[in-house]
Amino acid sequence: MKTINRISIIGFMATGKTTVGKLLSDCLGWRRVDTDEQIEATQGRSVKEVFKQNGEAIFREMETEVLEQLLALDQVVITTGGGIVLKELNRKLLRNNSYVIALTASEKAIIERVLNDQSRPLLQGDIVYNVKNLLNKRQGLYEWADLVIDTSNLDPQQVAKHVMARLP
Ligand code: S3P
Repeated sequence: MKTINRISIIGFMATGKTTVGKLLSDCLGWRRVDTDEQIEATQGRSVKEVFKQNGEAIFREMETEVLEQLLALDQVVITTGGGIVLKELNRKLLRNNSYVIALTASEKAIIERVLNDQSRPLLQGDIVYNVKNLLNKRQGLYEWADLVIDTSNLDPQQVAKHVMARLP
């Protein structure tokens, strides 16, 4: 069994990764770090701007570099961007170096949560179409985690409670 001194949270956009990560890090007395926030701090601009100015491929390179740095920390809850699972290398890094929690949600729940969201570059335009399309493309990329929780009908507190009860 893995010794848990590092937890990563993966999941599609709007599955509650950041909020649940904050609650978990409070419960555990650990630090919380976030791949998107780390990129924004290093770059001095938003993820949206990075996408606009450099494109997704460059963002994905930044994401892997940051992930490697964060996975070297101990007693830490790492929250990630929804697309971190796209690269096999990232999935391997996460699996080999942390206890991975995947948060999932139904298509309906995700659409409701992001409908008025202008901040996510990959959802710009036809939000409903983009969510459906991305969910389709990412099928199976989240379910390999050590713990998978469907958040469709749970609030973040309930999700955190669920996780705390199931941590080995
Ligand atoms: C992305 C999700 C975003 C952010 C970027 C790309 C994705 O993070 O990393 O916009 O590809 O799913 P959240 O999942 O926190 O929204």
